[in-house]
Amino acid sequence: MSKTLRVGMIGYGFMGKVHSHALRSVNRFFPDAPAVEMTVICGRSTEALNSAAKTFGWLETETDWKKVIARPDIDIIDICTAGDTHAEIAIAALKAGKHVICEKPLANNVQEAEAMTAAAHEAAAKGIFAMVAFNYRRVPALAFARDMIAAGKLGTIYHVRANYLQDWIIDPEFPLVWRLEKDKAGSGSLGDIGAHIIDAAQFLTGSHLTSVSGRIKTFITERPLPGAYTGLTAATTSGKGKVTVDDAAIFTGEFENGALGTFEATRFAAGRKNAMSIEVNGSKGSLYFNFEDMNELLYHDHTISSESAGFRKILTTDGGHPYVNAWWPPGHIIGYEHTFTHEFYDFLMGVAKKVQPTPSFADGLYVQKVLDAVEASANNNSINTNVK
Ligand SMILES: NC(=O)c1ccc[n+]([C@@H]2O[C@H](COP(=O)([O-])OP(=O)(O)OC[C@H]3O[C@@H](n4cnc5c(N)ncnc54)[C@H](O)[C@@H]3O)[C@@H](O)[C@H]2O)c1
Repeated sequence: MSKTLRVGMIGYGFMGKVHSHALRSVNRFFPDAPAVEMTVICGRSTEALNSAAKTFGWLETETDWKKVIARPDIDIIDICTAGDTHAEIAIAALKAGKHVICEKPLANNVQEAEAMTAAAHEAAAKGIFAMVAFNYRRVPALAFARDMIAAGKLGTIYHVRANYLQDWIIDPEFPLVWRLEKDKAGSGSLGDIGAHIIDAAQFLTGSHLTSVSGRIKTFITERPLPGAYTGLTAATTSGKGKVTVDDAAIFTGEFENGALGTFEATRFAAGRKNAMSIEVNGSKGSLYFNFEDMNELLYHDHTISSESAGFRKILTTDGGHPYVNAWWPPGHIIGYEHTFTHEFYDFLMGVAKKVQPTPSFADGLYVQKVLDAVEASANNNSINTNVK
């Protein structure tokens, strides 16, 4: 029986809430995972922190993340803060002998991601592990699609077509939140949601992007400073700040296996809330996934006669589909939050068995290099930028 792992979580916003949910449920549904205790939640504002601790189910609070890392009873640091803090927290935690799970994108630039990966490499030699939280890998339909592709069901892969579309900042009066500032977020839609489809594409195909050609665009270059947003009425022109990240990113790429990819990440696709979709076409067939129907995978088998061929729906809720056996009977669908429970399950099993959980920081670093290459290609107007 492995010992209870005590968790310190830094950040209590959107991801803090989702990770808390996953930590509350992982031992209930995956009883083979080591037991976890939600020991301490950390944030900067005492009042909001106390409320989050109570609502999410944490035992203690702390306003200084360095004190969380210094605690000898903490085994795991869960990083749910904005990108500008990932490197400093993760490196300090790994050096202090804590396992680390860090939200994506791994860092705000390649240099930080390299330092984090070096720290993770050193820690792994001592049985201390780090993982980056690309949760879409843990959607059962996508994990099953990966298994089908790895088993050769699609044959030679020719195309990957991936989109991640949102619309939450179309209103020019939407305030300048941290996600719109380069020093805090690293990049805009590119790193925030583009990173997910880059990871998903590489995960599905088992192949890295080796070169890219990108365009990025900022449609709204100035926005009201946070606090000035009035929702329905126009904000005044005073109290505005500069948007320093992309609003949309589009790129093509080539994979090491020879396939071509097209990618679109935007926060300006009116009507699209969290529309992540990906299609893979190969010599023997195709697979299509759309997150809004996340329990389904569309599969076309191109080896059967064309009269009866066509996309058919696989409802990935059978006990044999990845992760699903832990949940409900077939056909009783699961949702967004379950992907994070799966993520923690894989992370905890890696820690318990002393096997590197994936995606590793090295995987996160590679995604960061792709993001960097897309930005370089767009800024230099280069049609072919190598990922290095
Ligand atoms: N996996 C996903 O699908 C997904 C979705 C959304 C966000 N994210 C990632 O999760 C991370 C956090 O995003 P979010 O949406 O939760 O943001 P958020 O703004 O909702 O929350 C960020 C939290 O970090 C805290 N924080 C910031 N600096 C801190 C510091 N120095 N010390 C302690 N706390 C600090 C803030 O107080 C807040 O609680 C980002 O890296 C983001 O890209 C991942």
